[in-house]
Amino acid sequence: MASKPSIHRDQRLHRKDPLLQYRWKRTQCLKQNLMQGTKDKVIVITGASSGIGEATAVMLAERGAKVVLGARGLERLEGLARRIAGAGGEVAYAQTDVRKREDVTSLVNLACERYGKLDVLMNNAGIGPISPLDDLRVEDWDNMIDINIKGVLYGIAAALPVFRKQGFGHFVNTASTAGITVHPNMAVYAGTKFAVRAISEGLRQEAGDKLRVTIISPGFVRTDFTESMTSPEMKAQIRDSMDKMAISPDAIARAIVFAIEQPADVDVGEIIVRPTAQG
Ligand SMILES: NC(=O)c1ccc[n+]([C@@H]2O[C@H](COP(=O)([O-])OP(=O)(O)OC[C@H]3O[C@@H](n4cnc5c(N)ncnc54)[C@H](OP(=O)(O)O)[C@@H]3O)[C@@H](O)[C@H]2O)c1
Repeated sequence: MASKPSIHRDQRLHRKDPLLQYRWKRTQCLKQNLMQGTKDKVIVITGASSGIGEATAVMLAERGAKVVLGARGLERLEGLARRIAGAGGEVAYAQTDVRKREDVTSLVNLACERYGKLDVLMNNAGIGPISPLDDLRVEDWDNMIDINIKGVLYGIAAALPVFRKQGFGHFVNTASTAGITVHPNMAVYAGTKFAVRAISEGLRQEAGDKLRVTIISPGFVRTDFTESMTSPEMKAQIRDSMDKMAISPDAIARAIVFAIEQPADVDVGEIIVRPTAQG
């Protein structure tokens, strides 16, 4: 005969001790409350195929959210969707280039059509091909502006009318500690992330009492972020810093889950999560 689920075994073991029984019940209750905050929420994530987006998608799906994933690389998206579905999660995905407004709109529409609503849009897709301004890597500047700023704006344009109509909704926009302090070689990247923070704060002020806006500002995080860097010197330098101090993308995902699971009248405005070793 198949053995009963371990949760019941734990309960039986604790039944004889009132204190243990109380603690067990309280833990179950806390777990349940946390699940309530994310369970069945429909969450669109751009830049979901790796790093911070991927970690957040997995964590949210584990907590019962329905995740809708977008990125350019279809193969990685498919692999991630298989993993999430294989673990019992609810997931949809679509190839999405946030430089194209129609792609971002389609991703949001996919979520609404498949699941009937949209609770959260995480504008996370971003690149960081940093370099000294003297290098005149103008194509990189254009790409950072198109992906990091205009991509976020296209996300707002796609989701804001949906949120207004529903009377609820939550934007989570990925900025950076580079959006708080400027360092040499990071002028354009920092400029895009300052812009994300400014746009998000403006959005928060205009949002009214029904919508929520959260800025997540990570420091060094262990992801594929350096892949977008076209300057070999910068790539080597940032990789070296990442090897020395970067934290897991799960650390950022946990902060995002915290913001999402708050009650509807609690707006977590900005969270900065950086390695303790980062100056
Ligand atoms: N890692 C860090 O240290 C760090 C620190 C602060 C802030 N951030 C921010 O965190 C966010 C996520 O970066 P990450 O560190 O997780 O890097 P990552 O591992 O390189 O992930 C970036 C994601 O964005 C997607 N992406 C890139 N260009 C896109 C486009 N045009 N349209 C749609 N998706 C696109 C990538 O997939 P495809 O290439 O397949 O499209 C990938 O899924 C970015 O906004 C980044 O600026 C990262």
